[in-house]
Amino acid sequence: MDLFKVYKLWDIEPVKGLDTTLWDKDGVEYTDLYGGHAVISIGHCHPHYVKMLSDQLGKLGFYSNAVQNGLQKELARRLGPVSGYPDYSLFLCNSGAEANENAFKLASFQTGRSKILAMGKAFHGRTSGAVAATENPKIQAPFNRTDKVVFTALNDLEAVGRELETREYAAVIIEGIQGVAGIYEPTTAFLQGVRSLCDRTGTKLILDEIQSGYGRSGKFFAHQHHGIKADIISMAKGMGNGFPIGGILISPDFDAVYGMLGTTFGGNHLACTAALAVLDVLENEKLVENAARVGEYFRNAFNGPDGLDPALKEYRGTGLMIGLELKDEYIGLRDRLLFEKKFFTGAAGAGVIRLLPSLTISMETAENFVKAWKELTR
Ligand SMILES: Cc1ncc(COP(=O)(O)O)c(C=O)c1O
Repeated sequence: MDLFKVYKLWDIEPVKGLDTTLWDKDGVEYTDLYGGHAVISIGHCHPHYVKMLSDQLGKLGFYSNAVQNGLQKELARRLGPVSGYPDYSLFLCNSGAEANENAFKLASFQTGRSKILAMGKAFHGRTSGAVAATENPKIQAPFNRTDKVVFTALNDLEAVGRELETREYAAVIIEGIQGVAGIYEPTTAFLQGVRSLCDRTGTKLILDEIQSGYGRSGKFFAHQHHGIKADIISMAKGMGNGFPIGGILISPDFDAVYGMLGTTFGGNHLACTAALAVLDVLENEKLVENAARVGEYFRNAFNGPDGLDPALKEYRGTGLMIGLELKDEYIGLRDRLLFEKKFFTGAAGAGVIRLLPSLTISMETAENFVKAWKELTR
């Protein structure tokens, strides 16, 4: 049997990792500023994470959601204060797409409405509802297309107002920072305006913090830079540092009814242990603060007092969620960074390099990247 070939793969096979370093099967060393697509939040193979997961595996790896699970309760208890949503409740699942599916369902159950408003260029995942709310027809099968999802451009408050005034929408979904689109941020005025429109029209506000959350932006959630609260927040990626786990935080305005949501694997013992280990390390090593500090260094290096880097059309992002939009003559730089300088980075199309490193990244690693960048572009 062969694999179903849906991924374009580099011919590199990492077999070992430690913090922001990876080694491939031939022993070649790389620096990881991609974090396996914003997933590695506390570094590869953090010793505390490895120990907690190993210990839990020796006790109990899994049992179903039909019994008490103290690890889930502990995770909810810990997430309350650190997320800034102490009075919300937690529902656990296995991935980002699934978190958004549950967010849509819950908003629809609660409001009795069936439509979702999403933003232009949004990416919310590949399952049925999530991909319908993703503005990319290439990854929507005919089965996924629906008139229940409408898109308006990011930061176009008037257009959102026109749609929400129909009072047909269960929810608006907005990424804390748009990732796959190429790192675009909602403005404070837009988010605050959408919040008021939602309140006025009885629409739920869902913040997709799957990529931008868990400290990556320099605050626990990116929308917290804008002084608003969401009704539902979806999370995944950095939550388990690579162990599959997702979840939604749910405002106290929602009524839980037995059976309305559910999952076999969601919130299992290993997943909760991974998430608890991540929270321990985030707190003990002050990683949200580190994300803000190293993010500021990158901003200054690429778009500081000396002006915009000569290889760039634009620098976008906040904290460690960074989009470097290349001038046309530098397209291809991502491959050169990888093959000549051994830096893994992310991308959004050919023209944007995305930096999504572990929140543990040291200033020295950041400086090494800037040095390598300059060597290739000057
Ligand atoms: C903002 C956002 N939402 C949802 C998803 C989907 O998450 P998953 O791949 O875990 O289903 C992603 C993944 O890249 C994402 O960036």
